[in-house]
Amino acid sequence: MKLYVLLFMVFLVIQCSDARYTDWFPQNLVNVFTNKTSKITEYVRSKGRSLKQFYVDNVKSKLTSYLGTDDVEVTKDERFERRFRSYIDDAKATDKKLFDVIAPETMNYECNDEDPSLRMTTPQLIAFHGYAAESHAIVTADGYILTVHRIPYFKNSTSKVSPRKTVLLHHGLLGSSTDWIMAGPDKGLAYMLSEYGYDVWLANVRGNTYSRAHVSLSVDSSAFWNFTFHEVSQYDLPAVIDYIMDKKGWDSKIDYIGHSMGTTVLFALLSTKTHYNKVLRAGFALAPVAYMTDIRSPIRLLASYSNNLAYLLKLLGANEFLPHNAVLRWLSKHACEINKIEEAICENSMFVICGHDAGQFNKTLLPIILSHTPAGASTKTLVHYAQEIRAAGKFQQFDYGPEGNLLEYGSVEAPEYQVHKITLPIALISAENDWLASDVDVTNLYVQLANPIEHYIVPLKQFNHADFLWAIDAPKLVYYKLMQLLAEGVTYSARNKHAQEFT
Ligand SMILES: *[C@@H]1O[C@H](CO)[C@@H](O)[C@H](O)[C@H]1NC(C)=O
Ligand SMILES: *[C@@H]1O[C@H](CO)[C@@H](O)[C@H](O)[C@H]1NC(C)=O
Ligand SMILES: *[C@@H]1O[C@H](CO)[C@@H](O)[C@H](O)[C@H]1NC(C)=O
Ligand SMILES: *[C@@H]1O[C@H](CO)[C@@H](O)[C@H](O)[C@H]1NC(C)=O
Repeated sequence: MKLYVLLFMVFLVIQCSDARYTDWFPQNLVNVFTNKTSKITEYVRSKGRSLKQFYVDNVKSKLTSYLGTDDVEVTKDERFERRFRSYIDDAKATDKKLFDVIAPETMNYECNDEDPSLRMTTPQLIAFHGYAAESHAIVTADGYILTVHRIPYFKNSTSKVSPRKTVLLHHGLLGSSTDWIMAGPDKGLAYMLSEYGYDVWLANVRGNTYSRAHVSLSVDSSAFWNFTFHEVSQYDLPAVIDYIMDKKGWDSKIDYIGHSMGTTVLFALLSTKTHYNKVLRAGFALAPVAYMTDIRSPIRLLASYSNNLAYLLKLLGANEFLPHNAVLRWLSKHACEINKIEEAICENSMFVICGHDAGQFNKTLLPIILSHTPAGASTKTLVHYAQEIRAAGKFQQFDYGPEGNLLEYGSVEAPEYQVHKITLPIALISAENDWLASDVDVTNLYVQLANPIEHYIVPLKQFNHADFLWAIDAPKLVYYKLMQLLAEGVTYSARNKHAQEFT
């Protein structure tokens, strides 16, 4: 019965594509839909199939699942499974054309394949711009071999001794050290910090382009990819921080700047291995992610299925997050329909998860960004984030289910991170349009910090998650403020109630 109603509605929209009958319905939505509908119509006709049969075969299941009118007797998991299967079958059967007619047009960029920077590593790119660059291999307590990059001193400085002021930059989900330099010497945060007199260290998380090695595990094994941001916070961060302290002397103080997951790992570290609150000087969190109650990223679509780990691992990649193309397309359709952006961006998992802001996006950077991103993440990390969304308001360790938790943690519930144990002075920098770090979640985090420096909201409504790295106006909107906070942040915080601990 419901199917006929739907078919009728679809038919109506096709028939009425010219009519102006919609005072009660946003005209642009109607336009988008009619444009797409006519494209689909053409496509189906060109394939010599009956339109009605096409909708019955292909569109019905998607429409019903969109509108939530699917049969109630099947479980959510079964529905999810079916939905994906049908989507994947569609994509296969139609040679992926089904998506292509729905997706926005491909745009052409002035992209030169000969551009050597597309294949350069972080230190090569840094050197390419005339800066000194170093790579350091660091082994974690659980055997992962990480590569950390460094710009030891500013290129114009006459002294080749690295400054005392030390900053550690930690990239976000699916990112790498390259994130901080792709915008070039004028706008890349790593270069700017170097110019401002910092010894700049750039972390790389286990599993990404630069940290794909282990003392005993094969990179192709499930054991290698069996980690989430929790293990990064427990092993990678301590190893990197200790290494820098060993190099520079234990009296030095490191400023920590994280983006996205780079902030999650900081909060997880400081609330568990609390002595790091005294080791670091201050933390600066760009697009902070801890609580996830108000998420617009398509990652939320996975949240309600995050308890079906086996199935998600199958869809998203058993080890590394390498989603089946069709799955990525399915996710990106949700992302791209919001923004109507170009296909190249829609097909990149980083943009699919984190969003895209056309107004602030420097298209010249697209080739270099696409050639370096996504840099790699474990599927388990994405599932962990999906669990946070499902847990609505709990910032907690990986949930193995009641039995698994009992084995792993000795309790039925996954332990929550004790945010109140974070005493490091921390500044939060967030944006209103951030798909992963919303106002309400960032504010909730801020009020729990023992030594807050400031919660700065980027004064541009459209500013999104990835804009913290590459926006045309990132220096003006974020970095100058960040430099100011770096210069005075701790002094400011010292005026707060826990002042004696930091003097
Ligand atoms: C629909 O297509 C027409 C012509 O191809 C175009 O002018 C119009 O802007 C499109 N509408 C939307 C909402 O994309
Ligand atoms: C660095 O030196 C070059 C060449 O001497 C000069 O053109 C440039 O402005 C200097 N940059 C800064 C930030 O001082
Ligand atoms: C992954 O880690 C969990 C928790 O430590 C453990 O129970 C599980 O056996 C591990 N799986 C693999 C494939 O190593
Ligand atoms: C875009 O990026 C290129 C390459 O780094 C840079 O030369 C250019 O100035 C940037 N454009 C804007 C508007 O920031």
